[in-house]
Amino acid sequence: MLETNYLGLKLKNPLVAGSSGLTATISQLRDLEKQGLAAVVLKSLFEEDIYTDFNNEIANSTRSDEELDTLDIKIKHQHLDEYSKLIREAKAALKIPVIASINCTSTHEWAYFASMIEKAGADALELNIYEIPFHQTSASESEQRHIHLVRQIIDALNIPVAVKISPYHTSTANFCRALEQAGASGITLFNRFLSPDFDPQTFSFKEKNKYSHPEEYYHTLRWTALLGQESEVSLCASCGIHETDTILKMIAAGASACQLVSVLYKNGIGITGRILEEMQNFLHSNGYSSLREYQTAAKKHLKLEYFLRSQFVRLKNLEESLK
Ligand SMILES: Cc1cc2nc3c(=O)[nH]c(=O)nc-3n(C[C@H](O)[C@H](O)[C@H](O)COP(=O)(O)O)c2cc1C
Repeated sequence: MLETNYLGLKLKNPLVAGSSGLTATISQLRDLEKQGLAAVVLKSLFEEDIYTDFNNEIANSTRSDEELDTLDIKIKHQHLDEYSKLIREAKAALKIPVIASINCTSTHEWAYFASMIEKAGADALELNIYEIPFHQTSASESEQRHIHLVRQIIDALNIPVAVKISPYHTSTANFCRALEQAGASGITLFNRFLSPDFDPQTFSFKEKNKYSHPEEYYHTLRWTALLGQESEVSLCASCGIHETDTILKMIAAGASACQLVSVLYKNGIGITGRILEEMQNFLHSNGYSSLREYQTAAKKHLKLEYFLRSQFVRLKNLEESLK
C-alpha cells in the first residue's frame, strides 16, 4: 500500500532515514531497518573533515618533507577506506537500499572518490553540496561550479545520484533543471544548515539550532509542489518533516520519498511505526488503495498558482479566478 519508487529504487514505504549521526554505524542502521524505515542515507563523508585531519597532522608533525608530500593522499584514502567499509558492511547487514552521501565542494578527485563508493556497493549516492557564498562569487558562477562537479561525478558512475541542495538558491527551479540536465536522478529538498550562535559575554560558540521544528516544512512543501509539476527527477522532501500529515502533504505535492532526521532524534526512532500506521489508516479511511493513487488524485486538486503566492492577497480572489 505504501510502496514508492525513489531514484529507480523500489521502497516499501516513503520514509528514508536522512544522513546524520543516526546513520553512522551498522547497529544504528540495523535498528532503523527494524523500525520500518525503507532506506537509509549514510552519514556523509565530509571533504571538510579530510582537510581538517590533514591540517592537524601538519601542525603536529615532525615528518620529513617527502612524507608531507604524500600525506594528503594518505589521509584521503584513510577516510575513503573507512567509508567504503561502512558501505560494504551496511549492504551485508541490511535488506533496504543503502544510499551513500558525500559532501564535496572542490572539483577535483571527487569523481574518483564517488567511483570507489559505487564499487563498495552503495545503491545510490546523495551529493550534499553547499557553500556559504561569502566570497565575491556571483550566484551564477557558484551554481555553474556545482553543476560542473555534479556532472563530473555522475559521468563517472552507473548508480543513481541525488543532489541535496540548500534552500538559498536565487533561482531554485532553474538550478534544479540544470542538475536534471547534468544527469541527476533525484533532488533532495532541502539541506538545513547549522546556524552558529554565541554567548554575548564569553563569546563562546553555542549549538542551539541543531534540530528542526515541525513548522519548518513550508519552504520544502512549496518547492516540492512547484518542481513536482514539471520535473522528471525523483524528489525527496527533507527539513521539518515531523508529522504524518506533513509526509502526506509532501507526497501529495509530488515527493517520491521523505527524509526524517530531527523527528527521529527528538522522539526516538520508534516513532516510525506510529507514522507508518497513521499513513495506512489515512489511505484506508479515505478510500485510496495505494500511495500512488493518493498522489495521482492530489494532482487534480493542487493548483500550481497556490504555491506561487507570495503576498497576502485574499485567497478567495485566487480561488474565484481559478474556477
Ligand atoms: C546531528 C545532525 C547531523 C547531520 N549530519 C548530516 C550529514 O552528515 N550529511 C548531510 O547531508 N546532512 C546532515 N544533516 C542534515 C540532515 O540530513 C537534514 O537535512 C536536516 O536535519 C533537515 O532535516 P530534519 O528537519 O528532518 O532534521 C545532519 C543533521 C543533524 C541534526
